[in-house]
Amino acid sequence: MTRINDNYLKLKAGYLFPEIARRVNAFAETHPDAQIIKLGIGDVTEPLPAACRQAMHDAVDEMGQRNTFRGYGPEQGYAFLREAIVEHEYTARGCDITPDEIFVSDGSKCDSGNVLDIFGGDNTIAVTDPVYPVYVDTNVMAGHTGDANDAGEFAGLVYLPLTADNDFTAPLPDQPVDLIYLCFPNNPTGAVASREYLERWVAYAREHGSIILFDTAYRDFITDPDIPASIYQIDGARECAIEFYSFSKSAGFTGTRCAFTVVPKGLVGKNAAGEAVELNGLWSRRQSTKFNGVSYIVQRGAEAAYSPEGRAQIRDLIAFYLENARIIRESLTAAGMTVYGGEHAPYVWVKCPEGLDSWGLFDKLLNEAHVVGTPGSGFGAAGEGYFRISAFNSRENVEEAMKRITAGIGV
Ligand code: MLT
Repeated sequence: MTRINDNYLKLKAGYLFPEIARRVNAFAETHPDAQIIKLGIGDVTEPLPAACRQAMHDAVDEMGQRNTFRGYGPEQGYAFLREAIVEHEYTARGCDITPDEIFVSDGSKCDSGNVLDIFGGDNTIAVTDPVYPVYVDTNVMAGHTGDANDAGEFAGLVYLPLTADNDFTAPLPDQPVDLIYLCFPNNPTGAVASREYLERWVAYAREHGSIILFDTAYRDFITDPDIPASIYQIDGARECAIEFYSFSKSAGFTGTRCAFTVVPKGLVGKNAAGEAVELNGLWSRRQSTKFNGVSYIVQRGAEAAYSPEGRAQIRDLIAFYLENARIIRESLTAAGMTVYGGEHAPYVWVKCPEGLDSWGLFDKLLNEAHVVGTPGSGFGAAGEGYFRISAFNSRENVEEAMKRITAGIGV
């Protein structure tokens, strides 16, 4: 019989969000009249910006004419989008990044998992706890860990706890690590990283020859210009960091799919002989072998996110979700709950009331308020005792959810 990848058997029951969906569907089946409000998965709800839609319509029309039709595109992304990304995401922030360092893709989730293809199997890997589960699960699948203990911690990973005491910014490891996953603004805690904090990480990574995998999917939610949006705003980061960005949460592309990864030229790892090898070439080779690029239509839509109209429409979208986050934060605080995040991020990280653990609060909110959130323990052992509420929903639903949570069930 054909052998399977046994590493998959080490994974916890299901990927967090499908597992929540399964529980919600089971509840809905037995409570068909319940008006369930979903503030669980961070999935956008508002329509795509008009500028992006128009650009995609135009691109569809181009595909309908023989002289403008396009087949396979460059696996790394069309030049028009890579150049727009450099101008608006990097040059505008004073970062020295060039188009051949940008790799357009269909998502940061995929890229942050796929990037393991270009690294060896014996690196020491650090993740925060709580953490976006993809970073952990993809390392488990790749065989980079041992088994999980009862708290869900996998042997072989270095966990860096995010706690209220450290403002949900992980301490630097007290041992050398090779790969470090950082996500700011943070999913799930909504915390942000100061310039000084990121400088410490860059210094650490350069000293130890480590690589930081920096996920900035939520950077457009930062409202304070002193908070770095990109790791490349930190001197020396080109020599130690790969960065992920997604159009999902900013331009509402969760269903449309477009993202990019930055792999600077000159960023190196070592081969078996201990010689330095550039990662940019390896990632390019990986993408051109296993990926055929994002559709032309979608890349035109993403490009339009950088037009003056697109930028204004996206600013409005972000402001809308941040206002939802403010309503969540203030409603729960007024009800006596302790909350974090939600100021520069679409996630509010809520401390569970005395006597309830993460899944306990999940069940209580689902059963009594018909509101879905995400149990903090689903993001890691240190997430136990917390609960994540997403600001991605209509204003009406957010207000109704807060009314039900704060008045209806008395948490
Ligand atoms: C989340 O809810 O954490 C996000 O939707 C996950 C993702 O972007 O894949």
